[in-house]
Amino acid sequence: MKKMLNIALPKGRLGEKAYSMFEKAGFECPSIKENNRKLIFENEECAVRYFWAKPSDVAIYVERGAADIGVTGKDILLEYEPDVYELLDLKIGKCKMAVAAKADFRDKRIGTLRVATKFSNIANSYYSAKGRDIDIIHLNGSIEIAPVIDLSDVIVDIVETGTTLKENNLVVFDDVVDISARVIANKSSFKFKNKQIEKVIASLSKQIEEL
Ligand code: PRP
Repeated sequence: MKKMLNIALPKGRLGEKAYSMFEKAGFECPSIKENNRKLIFENEECAVRYFWAKPSDVAIYVERGAADIGVTGKDILLEYEPDVYELLDLKIGKCKMAVAAKADFRDKRIGTLRVATKFSNIANSYYSAKGRDIDIIHLNGSIEIAPVIDLSDVIVDIVETGTTLKENNLVVFDDVVDISARVIANKSSFKFKNKQIEKVIASLSKQIEEL
């Protein structure tokens, strides 16, 4: 019997898009489309088991080998630097990490810049490369509030459509890095389930080329 391939997908719209790519690749699991609150689905015929994980947790499942492969954003990989292989850019979930602030903000480079973010590691590397002293204010969400109520001078956050910034009267001052969804693999699974993993990757790559 073939060994099950365990795949962690991020719960939500991105995960659903990713699943449909895996489905097209021949790794379908029809029960996943049932409307219920189950989080684990398997299809023995295709030897595949999917989990819906919290997006920021996918890399944890993969790093520890609970999932053999997974789909996660480049933002998570840059922020947490999990010890996994990054195998493929799925070219979905495209957005960017950017520095934003109120339109009248000017960095006079005096004193410490207050930076609110969920991505402390990314923000630290970005400003340390510029030799700018910062004070990170780590928040868990709704980052856009911070400059508006003067909790911070700037934010480092994800911008997709730009609507959240616009509606909170903030503007982009600099792009930090482009983000998209990536397929990652556990290092030992990549060795021991190599055939199955390579098969998924080859088929996903083909779909991306055809885009
Ligand atoms: C993300 C990000 C921005 C928003 C950007 O937030 O942190 O707030 O999406 O999207 P837009 O440019 O299309 O408006 P998310 O919905 O993940 O929530 P949170 O960060 O507030 O938890």
